[in-house]
Amino acid sequence: NNFCIIMAGGIGSRFWPMSKSSMPKQFLDILGTGRTFIQMTYDRFKKVCPPENFYVVTSVDYKDLVLKQLPEMNEDQVLLEPLRRNTAPCVAYASYKIKSINPQANIIVAPSDHVILKEDEFIAEIEKGIDFAANNDVLVTLGITPSRPETGYGYIQVEGKSEYKDFDNLFKVKTFTEKPNLEMAEVFVSSGEFFWNSGIFIWSLKSIISAFDQYLDGVSSLFRKGEKLYGTDDEVHFINKTYSECQNISLDYGIMEKAENVHVLCADFGWSDLGTWGSLYENSSKDEFNNSIKGGDVFTYHTENCIVNMPQDKLVVLQGLNGYIVVESDNTLLICKKEDEQQIRQFVSDVKMVK
Ligand code: GDD
Ligand code: MG
Repeated sequence: NNFCIIMAGGIGSRFWPMSKSSMPKQFLDILGTGRTFIQMTYDRFKKVCPPENFYVVTSVDYKDLVLKQLPEMNEDQVLLEPLRRNTAPCVAYASYKIKSINPQANIIVAPSDHVILKEDEFIAEIEKGIDFAANNDVLVTLGITPSRPETGYGYIQVEGKSEYKDFDNLFKVKTFTEKPNLEMAEVFVSSGEFFWNSGIFIWSLKSIISAFDQYLDGVSSLFRKGEKLYGTDDEVHFINKTYSECQNISLDYGIMEKAENVHVLCADFGWSDLGTWGSLYENSSKDEFNNSIKGGDVFTYHTENCIVNMPQDKLVVLQGLNGYIVVESDNTLLICKKEDEQQIRQFVSDVKMVK
């Protein structure tokens, strides 16, 4: 009964210029492990879901990349989006598709671009979450203890102590705030009452469909109209039409901020959303001046706290830099203050991801 929806349609724009729309982060092996992020995601969830119960939702542009990187997937397990509409439509599509196959399904929704260092602990939490979500009408997310006032995450406030005898790290959620501004994030982190939303969700098919009906009925009713078409030759045509009419909204803004049955399972499993150069920096080994340097032939003078990522054959000299991102990929050079890295998204849209 366990199904896994892998969301793999993002463009990882804050990781530009290494991640770009023709080859986004989830398809890259940025850590040099020999497996890309989406492959590591699949490897992880294979421990709780049989291969035939995976659905990868992605842009039509990445179909071949997905099939190549996950050769275990059948073509009908790769759900193709003609347009980018963020994560709510992505999950609605996959949920209705799964409903046509198994209405009793338990579902894990997983981003395709995270790092998890402690796999055994992680899988134990996932199993706990499935157990709880299968027996209760709840939306469960995995929560992480915050370590800095990161503004790119969702923040979850919990109600005091856990009420659940068998789940002492499971809390009912009081508030969910997606991507707060820096001031708010600082207050949240220092209060000690908040967790980061990992973006990994667990629920029964019934609970997520009823949440869609309640909070995003426009989206839900569009995908519901196709109930008889999933799995038929008409599915693609139906989906193309549906996406063109569908609202662009994330699951976090559309459902998690509003729903009243959100629960969070808090645990330490070495999670990191290497969503930005700064988070990669935090997780990298550093030299004596706190620089993380990869690739290139790099000479540094009075340079500290920088992340530098260069093509192998590049000779680079850096002088007097503190706290900078210096990255070159495919003839595109980015130099940006680490603390301003959230602006990279804007830069990318300004230069229109030319590559
Ligand atoms: N299929 C599909 N279609 N996938 C998408 C789309 C889309 O339009 N947009 C994003 N995704 C995928 C991305 O590839 C990624 O794997 C996942 O969905 C999450 O999207 P992001 O764009 O990376 O979200 P985020 O990092 O800004 O925020 C989310 O994750 C944070 C933790 O990493 C939120 O859930 C936050 O609350 C959370 O803290
Ligand atoms: Mg992300």
